[in-house]
Amino acid sequence: MDFKLWELLRHCVLVYMILELQWRPVVSAPEEHKSCSDLLSTISLSKLLHHEAKDLLKHYITFHGPRSNSSTEDVPDSTVSGVNVSEKLQDVYVKNELFRLHVLKVVQHHSEIFLNKEPVVGPLSRVKDRLLYHSIKVKHLLAGFFPDVPLPSKPALPRLTAGHTYAKKEYGWLVLVRLRDWEEHVLQLLEEMKNMCGQQRLKRLLHTFNSLL
Ligand SMILES: *[C@@H]1O[C@H](CO)[C@@H](O)[C@H](O)[C@H]1NC(C)=O
Ligand SMILES: *[C@@H]1O[C@H](CO)[C@@H](O)[C@H](O)[C@H]1NC(C)=O
Repeated sequence: MDFKLWELLRHCVLVYMILELQWRPVVSAPEEHKSCSDLLSTISLSKLLHHEAKDLLKHYITFHGPRSNSSTEDVPDSTVSGVNVSEKLQDVYVKNELFRLHVLKVVQHHSEIFLNKEPVVGPLSRVKDRLLYHSIKVKHLLAGFFPDVPLPSKPALPRLTAGHTYAKKEYGWLVLVRLRDWEEHVLQLLEEMKNMCGQQRLKRLLHTFNSLL
């Protein structure tokens, strides 16, 4: 091919790539695209859950008074651990289930001892449902971004010692505070994962570029 024509072609392809990157949010590869839209909807859900967890804690404090920070129950900490995104996402999946089990326990205490009283029962029940939905979304993300990584098995609820009413109140505080803080870390991870969608798009475009020349 004539050198000038060749250069012109390269130039056109480059312009095409830049336009594609800037103007088209969606480029072929349906599975990858689906994972990225799953990611965005999971971020929305996580933000909602974070907001609801904060709201619930506020109502819990209104009902039970300020926290004393003395519960010794085995409640998961609020970190997201792992060396890479796939490990972190697996950790989120397992902790999601643990938090859900603990929140179910708090729901049970609230109905047995505190007779489902407002203002706690409404927000508590919303957070309980949201956690279930959140875990399904995280499962989809794991399957979409890391199809080769097996889904971790679901944990069992650790043994609880909380016996008397006050200890159960304390336990509820601990669960809700940790849940709120954990959700913040989950959101950070999901925001980081947005880069993976950018990279996937760039990789596809480079592939297009190479195959055109
Ligand atoms: C419990 O800890 C939180 C922060 O971790 C603090 O804001 C709160 O004042 C503490 N409550 C008591 C009663 O010490
Ligand atoms: C994440 O790190 C673990 C442990 O080093 C490794 O086995 C796994 O393959 C890594 N996953 C990805 C997707 O890089």
